[in-house]
Amino acid sequence: MDLKEILASVQTFEINSASDLESFRIQFLGAKGQIKDLYGELKSVPNEEKRAVGQQINELRQIAEDKFESFKISLAQVQHQSEKIDVSRPGADSMIGSHHPLSLVRKEIIEIFNRIGYVVSEGPEIEDDWHNFSALNFPPEHPARDMQDTFFVEKGEQEMALRTHTSSVQVRVMENSKPPIRTISPGRVFRNEAISARAHCFFHQIEGLYIDKNVSFADLKQTLLFFAKELFGEKATIRLRPSYFPFTEPSAEVDVSCTLCHGKGCNVCKYSGWLEILGCGMVDPNVLDACGIDSTVYSGFAFGMGVERIAQLKYRVTDLRLYSENDIRFLKQFTPGN
Ligand code: PHE
Repeated sequence: MDLKEILASVQTFEINSASDLESFRIQFLGAKGQIKDLYGELKSVPNEEKRAVGQQINELRQIAEDKFESFKISLAQVQHQSEKIDVSRPGADSMIGSHHPLSLVRKEIIEIFNRIGYVVSEGPEIEDDWHNFSALNFPPEHPARDMQDTFFVEKGEQEMALRTHTSSVQVRVMENSKPPIRTISPGRVFRNEAISARAHCFFHQIEGLYIDKNVSFADLKQTLLFFAKELFGEKATIRLRPSYFPFTEPSAEVDVSCTLCHGKGCNVCKYSGWLEILGCGMVDPNVLDACGIDSTVYSGFAFGMGVERIAQLKYRVTDLRLYSENDIRFLKQFTPGN
C-alpha cells in the first residue's frame, strides 16, 4: 500500500461528528487499520530501506494520532457549548428521609414515661460481668446466665460482655444516685442467637426502674396499665403471669389485650386474645444491697420490654430482619404523611 496515498486520505478525511471520529480511528489507527498494515508490510522492504520506511510510517501514525486527538477535543467543546442552561426547568426532587420505625416507637415509649416522671439513663454497650450479671443477682455459674446467650469480648486482661439487657444501666444508676429513682434505659442489646424472622443477634430494649420507700406490686401494675393504655389506646387491658428473673422477686410477664381483635381471638394473638409485651417484678433485695441501697428501707420495681416487639405490634412487621436491612422500600413507609 502506498504511504503517500494513506497520508492523503488521513489529511482529507472529514470529521464532523463523533461517529466520523470513530470511523477515522478504525480506518487508520485501529488494530486492523491501514497504518497497522503498513507495519506488517515492513517485513518485505529491503533491509537497507527498512529504517527510513519505518520512520516514515511512524511519522504518518503521529499525524493520524494528532488529527484524532485534536478533533476529539474540538468535538467535546462543540457538544459542551450546545448544552444551554434551561433556567425554567424544574429541579430534581431531593429525597426526604424518615425516622426509623424503632426510633418512632422508642420516642413514643419514652414520652409516656416522661409524663409520669421517669428520666432517661444510658450506659455502655460493652459491659463488665458485674453490671450485666453479678450485681443483678446472677451468681457465678448460675444457670440463669444461660437464659441470655452472651457474646464475650476481650478487653486487655478482662473478659467483657456485650450487654444482654439494659438492666446493666440501671445498676449504674443505683450505684450512682440515691432514691427516689425513676428511670428508663433505652438501648441496644446483644444475644448470641441465630438470625431469623423471629430472633436477631441484636435488638433494642427499654427497661424501667422505680425505687422509693413503700413501692408495691400494685404500683407496678398500675404503672404498666397506664403505659399500655397510653400506647395502645384506652381500651387496652393487661394481665400478669408469674415468671422468673434472677433480679426480681416476685416476677411476672405482662400481656396486653390483643391490639387487633381486642380479646376476641385472631391469628396475631394466636386466638388467645393476649400479646406478651414485657417482663417485670419487684427488685430483689439482693440487687438493692449490691448497688448500695438499703433494702430494709427501700423497695422498687423494674420492667423491661423489646422495642422491636412493640413496633411489631404497632406496625404489623412480622420479620425482625427488616429493621436492620436498610431497605428503602421498607423505611419509606414510615415517612410522615405517607
Ligand atoms: N432484663 C430482662 C430481660 O432482658 C427484662 C426485665 C427487666 C425483666 C426488668 C424484669 C424486670 O429479659
